[in-house]
Amino acid sequence: MADSITITDNRTGESVEVPIVDGGVDATDWRKLLPGVWFYDPAFMTTAATSSAITDLDGENGILRYRGYPIEQLAEHSTYLEVAYLLINGELPTPEQHDAWVHEITYHTFIHENVRKRFLEGFHHDAHPMGMLVSATAALETFYNDAKQIHDPVIREKHIVRLIAKMPTLAAACFRSSVGMPFVYPDNSLGFCANFLSMMWKIAEPRYDANPALARALEVLFILHADHEQNCGTTAMRTVGSAHADPYSCTAAAAAALYGPRHGGANEAVIKMLTEIGSIDNVPAFIESVKQGKGRLQGFGHRVYKSYDPRATIIKRTADEVFAITGKNPLLDIALKLEEVALSDEYFLSRKLYPNVDFYSGLIYQAMGFPPAMFTVLFAIPRTAGWLAHWVELLDSDQKIARPRQLYTGVGVRDYVPLEQR
Ligand code: CMC
Repeated sequence: MADSITITDNRTGESVEVPIVDGGVDATDWRKLLPGVWFYDPAFMTTAATSSAITDLDGENGILRYRGYPIEQLAEHSTYLEVAYLLINGELPTPEQHDAWVHEITYHTFIHENVRKRFLEGFHHDAHPMGMLVSATAALETFYNDAKQIHDPVIREKHIVRLIAKMPTLAAACFRSSVGMPFVYPDNSLGFCANFLSMMWKIAEPRYDANPALARALEVLFILHADHEQNCGTTAMRTVGSAHADPYSCTAAAAAALYGPRHGGANEAVIKMLTEIGSIDNVPAFIESVKQGKGRLQGFGHRVYKSYDPRATIIKRTADEVFAITGKNPLLDIALKLEEVALSDEYFLSRKLYPNVDFYSGLIYQAMGFPPAMFTVLFAIPRTAGWLAHWVELLDSDQKIARPRQLYTGVGVRDYVPLEQR
């Protein structure tokens, strides 16, 4: 049997044979046969909007690789900054490249004083830190006049470094402002994660030294969240990027998508759900209510993973390491029971609903002292590297502007009726 499909236009009798490559078909030949005929596919259920060499995700088999490297190996041996370099440049850095990259990122962690004083301090005292981060990321563009020069590789790289470097500073500043604490400047003698923890938690001590095991746990979480191919946020990044917007505006758009509870906001929703369930005894009744369509089991299910999310497996291990230091999050037992009940229930099994990355990450963040409102912010910091990798790939591929077709379902045509006659 040929690995191809044949499309016949019954109006003309003309046919075209299109090869099936990697489980999909290219629309180029189909477009030639059927000019003007479009494909109705809301939410891109069966549409590949791009080709990409960055992240390989096999949802059926629970496989995730960045540039060919298994996520398990990167989580065990690598650092977030090394992974960010890999995602953006395609190769792991040599020792010289690594040192230069870490140096560049470290020395771009400061934000312009006016970002903090004039912009961040303008937010209402109880502003959500993720809302602040989305806005502050977009606002950064107004501080760099050359950000629009996206076709100059040297300028482009400078802004990539700035975005990756400033995200933790902005994130911590949003948190400190939302709880009325003074801003903490970056400490460039610290590593990426330890520096972020210092900006989050430092009070009056001359230097904040994070627990190395907690800094490493955060590093692992950052590696796991760094990219995940064409999810909603990355698609937003590519869509806005295809209009040739500057990288700050593109990143803000991607972060805005991530903010939604169906996407990166799910980790916050998981903690809310576990808190509302309140005790192991209430788990069966909660599962029943989900099965009856009264809400969803947050942190479960994925558009692509139809087996256990490999990130969730690593996160579960990391959770044990963190809880050994912080003490167990009391919500863990409810989470484990939920997973046990769901994974033995026909409703979840038949729909291939398994825990995703968000199911356990919130429990770790909470045990480390982060308030739920910071969880999506913690997702956005490392995902910035993935978004930028896709942005670079998009610009290098010279793709046209993203502009899907629509199926118009409104009124055909009607005449305007003056206001007084309606
Ligand atoms: N709890 C209960 N039922 C579910 C769930 C869930 N979490 N997820 C999907 N279903 C059911 C859904 O009701 C539907 O059932 P039926 O066929 O009877 O109508 C079936 O499973 C397929 O669901 P879908 O909505 O068509 O699947 P999707 O691919 O459009 O949605 C999802 C994927 C992640 C939005 C969804 O699974 C969900 O809402 N999960 C909860 C939120 C969540 O954990 N999001 C984080 C995703 S991972 C991190 C990230 O990418 O940001």
